[in-house]
Amino acid sequence: MTTGVMTTSVSAAAGVALACLVSFGATGFAQGQLPDAPGRDVTVRVCSQCHEPQRAASVRLTRDAWEAVLAKMSALGMKATDDELTAILDYLSENLKGEAPKPINMNSATSVELESVAALLRKEAAAWIAYRNKNGPCKSLDDFKKVPGVPFKKIDERRDRLVCF
Ligand code: HEC
Repeated sequence: MTTGVMTTSVSAAAGVALACLVSFGATGFAQGQLPDAPGRDVTVRVCSQCHEPQRAASVRLTRDAWEAVLAKMSALGMKATDDELTAILDYLSENLKGEAPKPINMNSATSVELESVAALLRKEAAAWIAYRNKNGPCKSLDDFKKVPGVPFKKIDERRDRLVCF
């Protein structure tokens, strides 16, 4: 194992790349590149067990989705310690960042949207649609505390992608 190898200097190019990253997010990078940032070395080392680590760089994902990819790679036989997995997850979700799904408006969302984006069961989506038809639109997500048949926990956990307007 050559874990002692460290990058001691940051090249001018990487400095520019970092500036892009700060101002534009990961979109400043060409697809297929793994940006130079903390966690890159361990990511390259672990992912190279099976395929080009650049394979990861062909996609842009949210942290949740990266976590799912890592779980899939582990199931395929990837060897990594918990610390390495955390470092890799941080690296990927910071540097190969995907757009979070566009928020849905709870007052106009269809049953399918409520099921896919808010992770409601069909009967919970139906309960909300019946409630909003009878009582009118929600004004804030906290209104869901009093909607029978819809677990507020689910709404609360997905505040970043649900809105009332
Ligand atoms: C144990 C072997 C193994 C390791 C280690 C591994 N992968 Fe993979 N990876 C695969 C295989 C096999 C596929 C093709 C899977 C398929 O086509 O369903 C794949 C496919 C992928 C894909 C394409 C999308 C997908 O889900 O099929 C991505 C992205 C990816 N790997 C990322 C990574 C990253 C990031 C790492 C390191 C953190 C990594 N892989 C480490 C075996 C591995």
